[in-house]
Amino acid sequence: MTTRHRVTFVQGEQRWELEVDDGETLLRAAHACEAPVHTLCNGIGACVQCKVRVHGDMAALSVPNHLERDRLGNIFHLTQERLACQSKVHGDVTVEALPVRLPKKKAQAAGMLRPLR
Ligand code: FES
Repeated sequence: MTTRHRVTFVQGEQRWELEVDDGETLLRAAHACEAPVHTLCNGIGACVQCKVRVHGDMAALSVPNHLERDRLGNIFHLTQERLACQSKVHGDVTVEALPVRLPKKKAQAAGMLRPLR
């Protein structure tokens, strides 16, 4: 039997919640519940548009891998920021969906904000 964890996304007053299997990425969880976590690279760790801020214990997520450390630097433990596409869920966690960096209308017009396939 697979262990399940509760993931909560927040942005302002809005909340999105769901349960996921152990090891699921935050990005796939966000897209499953339609939380506003964006991607330009379809989750390969190249665009940094999927940044989230962890509220509470970072131990509920996988340890940042080499790619994530390269993209975020070594201050992620201070900023509590993680890449949703690289962060795997191993416990109940709440994360804040950070705003997309590109102008959203421009990114949408270019077809750059899209769900995972
Ligand atoms: S989705 Fe592009 S870096 Fe995470």
